[in-house]
Amino acid sequence: MSELPAEANNLSTQNKRAWNALYRDTDGSVWGTTPVPFVEEFLDTLRSELNDSSLLLDAAAGDGRHVPILLAMPGTVYACDSSEHALEKILPGNSEVQRVFCDLASTPFGNDTFDFISIVDTIETLPSPDSILVELHRILKPGGHLLCNIPGTEDDIASIAMQPVQEGGGDSYLYRDTYYYRFYGELEALEMLARCGFEVLRNEMRSWEEAAHPGFRDYHHGHTSRVFLVRKLSRPSTPGAVE
Ligand SMILES: C[S@@+](CC[C@H](N)C(=O)[O-])C[C@H]1O[C@@H](n2cnc3c(N)ncnc32)[C@H](O)[C@@H]1O
Repeated sequence: MSELPAEANNLSTQNKRAWNALYRDTDGSVWGTTPVPFVEEFLDTLRSELNDSSLLLDAAAGDGRHVPILLAMPGTVYACDSSEHALEKILPGNSEVQRVFCDLASTPFGNDTFDFISIVDTIETLPSPDSILVELHRILKPGGHLLCNIPGTEDDIASIAMQPVQEGGGDSYLYRDTYYYRFYGELEALEMLARCGFEVLRNEMRSWEEAAHPGFRDYHHGHTSRVFLVRKLSRPSTPGAVE
């Protein structure tokens, strides 16, 4: 794990606490059981590359709306999150999914572990996404695939209840004064993926609708986001990255 500046570390700690409190204070699921449609669409194209010994990880899985899609693939499924209250809500009683409580900047997994990693609706909520992408690169097998979305300001939610973190502007926001968000242009997203050691295989826009998320976004809403399917290639170039 690379050292984070103190400010980013504080924001990250506050943010993780806020998410954990949301899951703790919400009865039932926050995100619901309907997956974001691009996850199944993209993962289906990789089915023939997976087999019973494949390892799949839903990173920052939340309360698990994408876990059933991963379980429908060949292989063993892990779901990790920094919220223990989120992990408790993932398919209660189901022993097929391995739930792991961890910070994605420093996971307990060995180098070159996973064949596939998804990280959905999360990169834009991370104060230090590079440190997390570098860690996901470390634990992905060479040639393994990562599926993520990285929304820009065209996302319907980007202008609703977002307060700039810094006085006078800046590109980071707190949604409802609580949850960190940053929206990325296409070039910024591509540069971030490249410096963290990923080769972009697909880069496509998707739009979808979501029902309300209790306690978080209390109304039906739309999302538009760039979706990336990338492959682990080289060593990341972020300073401090260790392989
Ligand atoms: C917007 S939610 C998305 C959840 C899930 N991927 C989904 O699409 O339903 C973001 C998730 O990231 C988790 N998270 C935030 N920072 C994290 C970190 N540093 N390490 C692991 N999980 C983190 C939060 O607990 C939360 O569950």
